[in-house]
Amino acid sequence: MPKFEPASRVSRIKSSASVAAAARVRELKAEGRRILDLTVGEPDFDTPEHIKAAAIEAITRGETKYTSVTGTPALQQAILQTLELRTGIHYTPAEITIGGGAKQVIFTAFMATLDAGDEVVVPAPYWVSYPDMVLANEGTPVIVACGEETGFKLTPGALAGALTERTKWVILNTPSNPTGAVYSPAELRALADVLAGFPHVQILTDEIYDQIYFGTGKLSNLVEVAPELKDRILAVNGVSKAYAMTGWRLGYAAGPAPLIAAINKLQSQISSCPSSVSQAAAAAALTGSQRFVQESLETYRGRRDAAVAALNAVDGLSCTTPEGAFYAYVNCAGVIGKTTTEGQVIATDEDFTLYLLEAASVAVIQGSAYGLGPYFRISYATSLDVIDESIAAIDKAVRALN
Ligand SMILES: Cc1ncc(COP(=O)(O)O)c(C=O)c1O
Repeated sequence: MPKFEPASRVSRIKSSASVAAAARVRELKAEGRRILDLTVGEPDFDTPEHIKAAAIEAITRGETKYTSVTGTPALQQAILQTLELRTGIHYTPAEITIGGGAKQVIFTAFMATLDAGDEVVVPAPYWVSYPDMVLANEGTPVIVACGEETGFKLTPGALAGALTERTKWVILNTPSNPTGAVYSPAELRALADVLAGFPHVQILTDEIYDQIYFGTGKLSNLVEVAPELKDRILAVNGVSKAYAMTGWRLGYAAGPAPLIAAINKLQSQISSCPSSVSQAAAAAALTGSQRFVQESLETYRGRRDAAVAALNAVDGLSCTTPEGAFYAYVNCAGVIGKTTTEGQVIATDEDFTLYLLEAASVAVIQGSAYGLGPYFRISYATSLDVIDESIAAIDKAVRALN
């Protein structure tokens, strides 16, 4: 058989670290090991009943065929209404696109806009997929380290220093995966002021966690704070996280009509449209009762507070309080250089996460996967019992280091 040689775009990228971590946990569990899993990037709740019912009704009504590339009229209306409600900005049907998850929408947006060598500014720590999606589409990720001292956020100075004539996009993810950091209106305004001087740059705002925000008042987003940038912003969202619908694969984005038309043209050749049944479910999620969103937010808040307090009580670890999403980004500089009872030196955050898996049976993801170490990410989209037990096991494992 001839040797299989993938295309260069495949060799350029890595598989998703979070998907790989989930696969490793599944493997260990299949071997019979009990693993305390803090890697999970999805709500541990079931999709609310009224959303499932809407999907079943759609099937019964025969809504089981291709839809238009731009989605069913019901979903389009639901998205436009949601955008107006959350941002106060009016969009038209020509300014929205839908896809098989926010992930696919972002990928297609890069495919629609990047030529070889075009640069994309990616603040680190970043969602693992951004740099690889850029690379897969021949672009060049420009990673900008945003340390704990700036709340893991991009500052106007760092942004200005990263922009060049080749910059096509800047990515802003608020609330952030992996840190839970949230940009304030003043911080967004300051970034918008820098962007005003670079009219060739577009901004991709990834707002997939916008409904999981613990602050008081309303979460701000860039288009609301800087409406003059509306024609340069692609605001990406979806139903995965807020409505516990990760498996339904439905995301959407709002942006300037010519960009949306380019994305839709590609989408027409990629999958035609996301599942018609998922579209019906997503429309119900966006227009129906939002009680689930409120209730799950309060559950996440309790878990966040418990996790942050317990992690900060571990000698050698520290963690700032995330303002959104369901992750905490834990500083583990205090354990780097220590030695295990087996004589192995913990030299990197990856060594530490492997040690935690072996010694404590706790699965977390190393900060180097998100572009900023030495840290690790925990997800608290799991029960308080698992959170308590995991952090107690982490504490014990850290105490055993010399
Ligand atoms: C920051 C961020 N953006 C986008 C996504 C993708 O979401 P979806 O399920 O809508 O593809 C995720 C999922 O983990 C995420 O963390």
